[in-house]
Amino acid sequence: MSDWSHGYNVSMGYSYGFYREMAPDWLDFCAWIGGFEPPRRAGRPLRYLELGCGQGFGLCLLAAANSGAEFLGVDFQPEHIEHATGLAEAAGLTNVRFVRADFLDLAAEWPADFGTFDYVTMHGIISYLSPPLISAVIQCLSHSVAEGGLVYVSYNAQPGCLSTVPLQHIARRIKEIENADGAAPAEEAIALIDGLAAAEAPVFQVMPALMPRVEALKTRDRNYLVHEYLSENWNLFWHSDVAASFAQRRSISSARRRLPTISSWNFCRSRFASRFSNNRPRMSARTCRISSSTRRSGATSSAARPGREAAAPAGTRCRCMRLPRSCLGAH
Ligand SMILES: C[S@@+](CC[C@H](N)C(=O)[O-])C[C@H]1O[C@@H](n2cnc3c(N)ncnc32)[C@H](O)[C@@H]1O
Repeated sequence: MSDWSHGYNVSMGYSYGFYREMAPDWLDFCAWIGGFEPPRRAGRPLRYLELGCGQGFGLCLLAAANSGAEFLGVDFQPEHIEHATGLAEAAGLTNVRFVRADFLDLAAEWPADFGTFDYVTMHGIISYLSPPLISAVIQCLSHSVAEGGLVYVSYNAQPGCLSTVPLQHIARRIKEIENADGAAPAEEAIALIDGLAAAEAPVFQVMPALMPRVEALKTRDRNYLVHEYLSENWNLFWHSDVAASFAQRRSISSARRRLPTISSWNFCRSRFASRFSNNRPRMSARTCRISSSTRRSGATSSAARPGREAAAPAGTRCRCMRLPRSCLGAH
């Protein structure tokens, strides 16, 4: 690993992806049905920040689709920033820029020219960071979220992602032993699990989802495998723990810009449309019922609108929930 990587695997660039949940319109919709005001759209251009923007493909698409808004992407991998900047230039986009920066440095000192943002998003970031880096990311929120802003965070989630544990564990151990860069350790782990399947190993009875997961990974590119499975840190979070750590970090954030309320949402295949209770153990029980492998959650510094929650239209596959007051603290 390079010195500057903090254990994140920077041996090759990431893959290219777009995630519709990161679009401002989508986030606004989530805020509304969660009972919160989305950022105001009148009077000035909306500002959008992506922490850990990777190759910049998604952010460029959002910039192209929202020409009246300003976008900034930060990432610490030089090849990502180079690619993202080149893509924006090639597409003639003037409302997006990319800056190479490390979360630790940004947490310590927020560049004055960045300012604050109405939307701050991070997709697939905290799953691969050490606890100090996660704290730095959350500190970046207290620097960057404008009054009334929305935060989006996605992460590998318990319990839906549990079937991935054997593969990740074996791939990491192979990497440690062979000290190899590139995707070879992950590919070896996939082959090893194939061998276990051929031998009808009992692990597949305990974890029926393991083999479908491994089969799906065979279609993914090597860059994805490296970033997803071969960094030093790999976290599967319970949603309630993510919510609690966001809430805890508020206390060290500047009093000027605390995140006074946190609401979260999840999009899942579910026939249940009812609103969740705010009780924390129940929240985890319902997380088990959802069992999605990744989770998209949101935080907002906008005013809650008690009693103004919109009901999800019949037939939508949307779930939203308000966090318990014990997580939120006084506000
Ligand atoms: C799994 S990739 C996700 C990239 C992008 N969000 C996406 O979904 O396509 C994680 C990203 O976080 C960036 N990253 C990891 N540690 C970082 C740090 N300490 N500071 C800034 N960026 C970091 C990596 O370079 C990488 O682009």
